[in-house]
Amino acid sequence: MNILLIGSGGREHAMAWKIRQNPDVKTLYCIPGNGGIALLAECHNIPLNDHSQIIHFVREKNIDLTLVGPEVPLVNGIVDDFFAAGLPIFGPNKAAAQMEGSKVFSKQLMEKYQIPTADYREFNNANAALAYIDAYPGAEMVIKADGLAAGKGAIVCMSKEAAREAVRQVMTERIFADAGSKIIIEEFMTGEECSIFVVTDGKDYFALRPAQDFKRALDGDQGKNTGGMGSYAPTPFLTDDLHEQAVRAIIEPTLAALRSEGIDYRGILYCGLMLTPTGPRVVEFNCRFGDPETQVVLPLLDSDLVDIALAVHEQRLGQFRLKLSTKSAACVVLASGGYPDAYEKGKLISGLDKLPEDIITFHAGTQIRDGELVTSGGRVMALTAVADSLETAIQRIYSSVQTVEFDGMQFRSDIAKRALS
Ligand code: AMP
Ligand code: GLY
Repeated sequence: MNILLIGSGGREHAMAWKIRQNPDVKTLYCIPGNGGIALLAECHNIPLNDHSQIIHFVREKNIDLTLVGPEVPLVNGIVDDFFAAGLPIFGPNKAAAQMEGSKVFSKQLMEKYQIPTADYREFNNANAALAYIDAYPGAEMVIKADGLAAGKGAIVCMSKEAAREAVRQVMTERIFADAGSKIIIEEFMTGEECSIFVVTDGKDYFALRPAQDFKRALDGDQGKNTGGMGSYAPTPFLTDDLHEQAVRAIIEPTLAALRSEGIDYRGILYCGLMLTPTGPRVVEFNCRFGDPETQVVLPLLDSDLVDIALAVHEQRLGQFRLKLSTKSAACVVLASGGYPDAYEKGKLISGLDKLPEDIITFHAGTQIRDGELVTSGGRVMALTAVADSLETAIQRIYSSVQTVEFDGMQFRSDIAKRALS
């Protein structure tokens, strides 16, 4: 079997690592890949928005199945184009990917089907949004761009002044371009966050191990929002009881709602939840695996990812016997100095060959230049460890993290700390 993987981040390196464990996979291709994926796959540079060139590549290389990592090609309808060409692909189609592509779409769906989430209002006019903020009963609220903003479109505001400034930036200055032509203003929720990855073929579903991700740049959840500085799974905050509540009140009603709306959702539905004092509520839905949650969720998946993707494509998930590991996994992201603000690239990375064998390295922003591995992005790589306990997994990583070196390297030293205390 020949497989194509689309994407270039740590999530896709984890997917490539998992796909490679299938003995039937002959050649794994990746568009575009990164310095780590290049060790597992044949990487090619084709623009991700050029679906017809990708389809041409798939036919030329006799690719049997394509897996899509990031949201942008999904929201742009790559799955619809593959379906029209009669080619197997794993991921939701354009209509389904609106769950991530439009906050207004997903909020309206949740409202219509009474799925617990933060109360919200939508605005396509900055003056109306500012007037709403003035009259808002509390000080804390969240401003979100409607469209895709590379995971940075949610601005948590602790004062009305901050909220007004966020509206100005998103709607007037258009810091997220057209993604900010519409916004929602949301009620501020409190609680531990948790990411549940639901695999569905449009009829049946199952959930992978629930993860927690660390979005802020600095220890103690300080600093700016990033793409994610670490993760671990399973999270003890999602107790069996809360998991059951999430299934009954959120996951099953959402899948049913999609079907009622005539949306054939196949692939991953990422349910980002807040475990609030009144129970789990939705923070957001995404249409793909999380990054860096995939770096802990896939090492805890004992079933084969290619088999799962094929079962989804052929809509026979109901007969699939899912096997999940009972171990724990943790992941710490090593980032470039300055990230998420401006940072330098091209720094030589050393020490990977000295890492203990039980540490898995997933590259994100790396590339091979003149035969040497150098940094090429904000999140450079993630170190993952799997162990019988979360405590051991996290200890394994922190005892070896300093083995890796590159100029300006930064990482959080408190990943999973609250879960252990
Ligand atoms: P999102 O891009 O929607 O996942 O939001 C990014 C982060 O902002 C989330 O992981 C939360 O930490 C925070 N956030 C988003 N919406 C809310 C909300 N309604 N209340 C509190 N925090 C939120
Ligand atoms: N880790 C958050 C995301 O993938 O959106």
